[in-house]
Amino acid sequence: MGKEYHVAVVGATGAVGTRMIELLAETSLPIASVRLLASKRSAGQEIQFKGQPLIVEELVPESFEGIDLALFSAGGSISEKFAPEAVKRGAVVVDNTSHFRMAKDVPLVVPEVNPEALKNHQGIIANPNCSTIQMMVALEPIRQAFGLERIIVSTYQAVSGAGIRAINELKEQAEDFLEGKPVSEWSAEILPAGSDEKHYPITYEEWKMMNETKKIMGDNKLKVVATCVRIPVISGHSESVYIEVKQADASVSAIQELMAQAPGVILQDEPSEQLYPQALNSVNQKETFVGRIRQDVDVKNGFHLWIVSDNLLKGAAWNSVQIAETLHEMNLLRVPEND
Ligand code: A2P
Repeated sequence: MGKEYHVAVVGATGAVGTRMIELLAETSLPIASVRLLASKRSAGQEIQFKGQPLIVEELVPESFEGIDLALFSAGGSISEKFAPEAVKRGAVVVDNTSHFRMAKDVPLVVPEVNPEALKNHQGIIANPNCSTIQMMVALEPIRQAFGLERIIVSTYQAVSGAGIRAINELKEQAEDFLEGKPVSEWSAEILPAGSDEKHYPITYEEWKMMNETKKIMGDNKLKVVATCVRIPVISGHSESVYIEVKQADASVSAIQELMAQAPGVILQDEPSEQLYPQALNSVNQKETFVGRIRQDVDVKNGFHLWIVSDNLLKGAAWNSVQIAETLHEMNLLRVPEND
């Protein structure tokens, strides 16, 4: 029998962590055990895994003794402190925070796009930003076929990317709205990001999208600019993406065909039938939905796409579990020094 892995989920009680646990229950990865880690506040809490109650434990460095794979989604400062502790104890870390993403020796991976980057891992693999991931899944096949000159993207991001407290805050704000309270009296303590000094009823992360896109596609000359906006939606990120391709023979129908065949993509492009990607329909789906593909009116090699995905799944938990599955398939689920 092949190896079965001891897996830890760091941030097990969070918006992404809870999805990771669900995905681990159905993964093809051979799992021997799952350890759930969170803050002291959650220690002792029960979470079901494959019909069995598992007890959440407080995260300490020793939590990683005997662990082969650790999925992190508890914030950048937790990853900074504890990911090295996990690696030191022989665990491979898949980190969903932005902390290690741009580090040279850390692969930044979308399995449909650059799985070969996993070969160079030194124990930590970074999961890209949610908005970047869904854009990469859709654009890489176009880049392969026609080359990519530039990307201009505007996002319409759901609040769940900012965690459970952000989801709850939006719900409270919705109640405030329905009760007719003036905006100045709405509760606003988390959004746009808990670590920010000032808070507003929702709003932003352009830098991540621009730099991560270049790293994943391995093209520093690619022109990328992003405008990121949060909208009052619980889950499902939408993106309006304008691209200019290098080759003159690209067409809407050729791009539609690419999208219909691309791994992890579902083409939904029948506007006359009212079929196009919608955030609401992306929730709980692992795929990225692409539609409304149009040629630019003025620029011959310019195309517009509408790209939607569940930010908690392909944007976070699913991409992380998929990285782990890919590591396993490539026989790379081990820390190099420990070979
Ligand atoms: P806890 O629920 O105990 O606070 P979200 O992104 O939805 O806000 O979730 C954040 C996750 O990170 C939660 O599981 C949270 O656990 C966890 N977390 C936050 N702070 C710490 C910490 N100091 N140590 C371990 N886990 C933490």
